[in-house]
Amino acid sequence: PKIAAIRVNFDLGAGRRGASHGPNAIFEAGLLPTLQQMGYSVDHVSDLHLTENLPPLDAQVDTTNLKYFPEVLNINTRLAQQLSDVVTQDYFPLVIGGDHSIAIGTIAGLAGHYKQLGVIWIDAHSDLNSPETSPSGNIHGMSLAVSLGIGHPLLTQINGISPKVKPENIVLIGARSLDEGEKKLIRSLGIKCYTMYDIDRKGMALVMQEAIDYIKIRTDGVHLSYDVDSIDPTEAPGTGTTVKGGLQFREAHLAMEMLHEAGIVTSAEFVEVNPLLDESNKTSELALSLISSFFGDQIL
Ligand code: ARG
Ligand code: MN
Ligand code: MN
Ligand code: MN
Repeated sequence: PKIAAIRVNFDLGAGRRGASHGPNAIFEAGLLPTLQQMGYSVDHVSDLHLTENLPPLDAQVDTTNLKYFPEVLNINTRLAQQLSDVVTQDYFPLVIGGDHSIAIGTIAGLAGHYKQLGVIWIDAHSDLNSPETSPSGNIHGMSLAVSLGIGHPLLTQINGISPKVKPENIVLIGARSLDEGEKKLIRSLGIKCYTMYDIDRKGMALVMQEAIDYIKIRTDGVHLSYDVDSIDPTEAPGTGTTVKGGLQFREAHLAMEMLHEAGIVTSAEFVEVNPLLDESNKTSELALSLISSFFGDQIL
């Protein structure tokens, strides 16, 4: 199994700076040796940075409530191309962010390769805002909406396919901070959503089993989009939008272990590690251990 690690050193989709250093922190924690010891070859490693001197946008383009729109558009257009290339070359794409706006590019790059792309979105949030509903204007809170075809046309049209994913092929896990517009959208589109209430009530094992069974029957590829703010801030303080009452350490690992066992995931991204907010690399080390579990590292 060969992995393409794509480092996306970008944070302008978030409200605070620092997630652009996430890839460095996770690599410094030992990503490559860990994956190699597990028997994977990681012979593609690439870096995406913001291009300096972006071409100016057409003056007609309305970017109301879309912070750093040209930058987000630029990085995601290039990420989509890279993603698509590595899938064509039969790599398992592992995207390391970066803020969660980069899911726009990752999912755009995957979309052309699957008829029924599934997305497992593990996050305290749903990132289902549009410029009209967003309380912040931060595009990392809009990336899943964009993938559903909701949002600025220049973003939804990356790669020319829209929508990239259908509402019935998405499962949200770990939600506990949803804006009003997001709640409406989840209900009206009937998106499968396991909130923290459901996880408390059913337990993580049952939630993951249901999520896996649900997505397995309807999709021909599954993307895991993992926002580390899904984890409780006591375990993952190094992220820009912490929300109390999150996944515990073992719940987070169990989800990764069960996804490995299920063998359904065809691409993954881990986002929102912000080393500037971290406490002695706790969050980047946790991200690395979750990635290891996802790729099959077992306790025994
Ligand atoms: N819902 C809030 C917003 O739209 C927070 C989004 C946080 N997203 C994230 N990927 N951390 O601004
Ligand atoms: Mn997110
Ligand atoms: Mn989040
Ligand atoms: Mn295994």
